Amino acid sequence: MAKVKITETALRDAHQSLMATRMPTEEMLPILEKMDTIGYHSLEAWGGATFDACLRFLNEDPWERLRKIRERVKNTKIQMLFRGQNMLGYRHYPDDVVEYFIQKAVANGIDILRVFDALNDARNLETSVKACKKEGGHLQAAISYTTGPVYTTEYFANYAKTLESMGADSICIKDMAGLLKPYDAYELVKAIKETVKLPVQLHTHTTSGLGAMTLIKGVEAGADVIDTAISPFSGGTSQPSTEALVAALAGTEYDTGIDLSKLDDITLHFMPLREKYINNGLLDTKMLKVDVNALIYQVPGGMLSNLVSQLKQQGKADKLDEVLAEVPKVRADAGYPPLVTPSSQIVGSQAVLNVLAGERYKMVSKEFKGLIRGEYGQSPIEIDPAFREKIIGNAEVIAHRPADDIAPELDSIREKVAPYYEKEEDILSYALFGQVAEKFFEYRKNKKYNIDAENADKEKHIHTIV
Ligand code: CO
Repeated sequence: MAKVKITETALRDAHQSLMATRMPTEEMLPILEKMDTIGYHSLEAWGGATFDACLRFLNEDPWERLRKIRERVKNTKIQMLFRGQNMLGYRHYPDDVVEYFIQKAVANGIDILRVFDALNDARNLETSVKACKKEGGHLQAAISYTTGPVYTTEYFANYAKTLESMGADSICIKDMAGLLKPYDAYELVKAIKETVKLPVQLHTHTTSGLGAMTLIKGVEAGADVIDTAISPFSGGTSQPSTEALVAALAGTEYDTGIDLSKLDDITLHFMPLREKYINNGLLDTKMLKVDVNALIYQVPGGMLSNLVSQLKQQGKADKLDEVLAEVPKVRADAGYPPLVTPSSQIVGSQAVLNVLAGERYKMVSKEFKGLIRGEYGQSPIEIDPAFREKIIGNAEVIAHRPADDIAPELDSIREKVAPYYEKEEDILSYALFGQVAEKFFEYRKNKKYNIDAENADKEKHIHTIV
């Protein structure tokens, strides 16, 4: 019987999509041992935003979080999301940093590394694939799903084939924007299953209200694993609910093997947290409604809210319609990149500039120039040479793997971290989040320093008595 497996996203994508990734480790710990008994394929627990939010907002060491989860999750695989050569950040990093990060991630407890590239340029995954295989991790190569003239089923199937030949252990269709419709999912999964011999996992968001239908059609087409979120953190911009999918597939040839009544313990743990975050405003219930704008404008929901806030800051909220009409034009000029971090921000910001300047490309951002020059990799469709010249003049076009130009950084980072150094992983936190990591290190140090100050005061006090 073709069992379908479940990846639970409660610890990563679910709270990232609904409440800016603010769930602290202490709220996860009490339920982890029970989650470990459910029979999930994996727990998605780590990624760019979880790492960033730990350092930036939660005063937590993301590496400690991973270790604490690993201590309690002994049987279920732990999974992370990784942006290939962008790692967990927003630019390309040198190979030595990528390799060292993956080494430490696996050593600290990551079993499955899900790697994607914003442009679906396989060269940007090369170093990650090699490093993950070397460390004995499971390399899941993800296809950034989007729509547009080049994005036929055949295009995605060919990309899956490339990823398989590079050494991927499984393929993920990553529909970060909730654009994948149920019958398209069926066609896509079927085509990829026919093209590669690897397990196929389906990841979507239920932003437009389609998520559960998309997963079901994907399962019917042969998807081996699907991503779902426990109900208190499911729906809206998050994943479809775990309980609903387990119930829907129970007793069919796709049965997940998960006992629905056992999931109740997990639901009961997360339910009061949902209430807490709705009450304190961190979980905006607007995130939970069906929003078909993503389908109409072909822009991810998260990007839409970014554009609105950028325009509001300029007092130009009334320009939203013009900007929404401009986004697809800028995307076309840039060779139709999928809109996912970091390309979504680059294209969105340029569309805003084009509208606010009153003339297209009168002002061009540094990042957009970089995108057109090839600093992020090869665009899915070739960029018109005349347009490229208009944007970057005679600057050299990068046709090779962009990271080939980036010099090793580990040694210089090691020097910078020296004043704060407590463990090897600090070097990687700093490599990714520079000043944010430094602030966290200060906090960590000061906490200790304060304890010392207390002792110093006591000493002073003692002296005074004497
Ligand atoms: Co996602």
